Formats: sequence, C-alpha cells, structure tokens
Amino acid sequence: VTIAIHHATFSDLLEIAALAGALVRQHSAFDPKRFLLVENVESGYAWWFEKELSNTNALILAATLDSQIVGYAYGRVEERDWNSLLDAHGALHDVFVTPAARCKGIGRLLVERVVEELSARGVPRVVLHTAVQNLEAQKLFSALGFRQTMLEMTREASGSK
Ligand SMILES: CC(C)(COP(=O)(O)OP(=O)(O)OC[C@H]1O[C@@H](n2cnc3c(N)ncnc32)[C@H](O)[C@@H]1OP(=O)(O)O)[C@@H](O)C(=O)NCCC(=O)NCCS
Repeated sequence: VTIAIHHATFSDLLEIAALAGALVRQHSAFDPKRFLLVENVESGYAWWFEKELSNTNALILAATLDSQIVGYAYGRVEERDWNSLLDAHGALHDVFVTPAARCKGIGRLLVERVVEELSARGVPRVVLHTAVQNLEAQKLFSALGFRQTMLEMTREASGSK
C-alpha cells in the first residue's frame, strides 16, 4: 500500500467535500442541537473549499491510499481573536479519514503535515477544537503533542426544548 499526502487541487474537491459531509454528520450525531447540519452540506463544502484553494492563509491537504482519496485536512492561519484570548495562530479546522482507511497512520500524517506547514508560515502554535465525545480523535491529538486548553459548554435557551 502507498500512502501519500498532497495539496488538494480543484479536481479533488468533490471527494473532499464528501468526506467533509461525513465529518459534519458525525458531529450532528454527537449533539444535533449544537452542531449545524444544513441540507446539501457537501455542495456547501465544495463551494467553500474552492474559495479556500485561492486563499493563501488556507491549507487543504488530501491523503491518498493507493491513489484513492481517503482523507483530508483543512487548516488556516487565523488572526488574533480577543474574544477567545487567542493570539494569531494556526487552526486545524478539519481532519477526517474514511473508516476503512483508519489506523494506518494517515490521520497522524495529516495532522503532522498541517502543523509543519502552518508552522512554516510563522504561526507560534496550532489550535484545534474537538467534540468532547470524540475520544478517538483526542487520543491522536494528545499523542501528537496537543494539550487540552478549553472546554465548550452549551445549554438550550430558556423556554426552548
Ligand atoms: C481521528 C482520525 C482522523 C484518526 O485517523 P487515523 O488515520 O485512524 O489515525 P492514525 O492511524 O494515524 O492513528 C489513530 C490511532 O490508531 C492507532 N493505530 C495506528 N495504526 C494502527 C494499527 N495498524 N492497528 C491498530 N491501531 C493503529 C494509532 O496508534 C493511533 O492511536 P494512538 O493515539 O494510540 O497513536 C479518524 O479516526 C477520523 O477520521 N475520525 C472521524 C473524524 C474526526 O473525528 N476528526 C477529528 C475531529 S476534528
């Protein structure tokens, strides 16, 4: 088997958008009230990632297993955010590996490459958010040197069910 990572191109975007859709559905299943799931989420991602391909602050990586796309990662250089007390940083927004291709080190390769490429752009650190239920992903991120820094909490508004 040959595993490789490349910078996504326009022709990868439909496949990557399908993986992004799976990532969104996974989160919606964790907590459907908290995680937005819109109709045609895949076309939304295809549109967004096409725009991001020409954004010099953005990074979209595709992972292939024997030349088939089985994973992707999306990161970006983000500006200082006072509300989060977060200085300029690299953000790892998405990482997804298709279930059949997991546990082969592809997730690790994707995360390491995002950190390497964002670091090369001068960010002092990389920050990511992960669902509290997502222990598998947290295990991988911890193994790669990420420490826990924030815990988001949500409640429904008064009077809503
Ligand atoms: C999280 C995710 C990206 C990891 O991808 P992956 O390709 O399976 O990751 P890796 O193979 O690099 O490593 C995952 C774990 O499998 C283990 N592993 C690697 N090869 C293995 C093998 N042959 N057999 C058993 N376990 C193995 C690794 O040790 C690692 O665990 P560790 O933390 O103890 O090191 C993947 O599970 C996924 O896409 N999940 C759904 C999306 C998601 O949750 N994304 C993150 C939220 S933003």
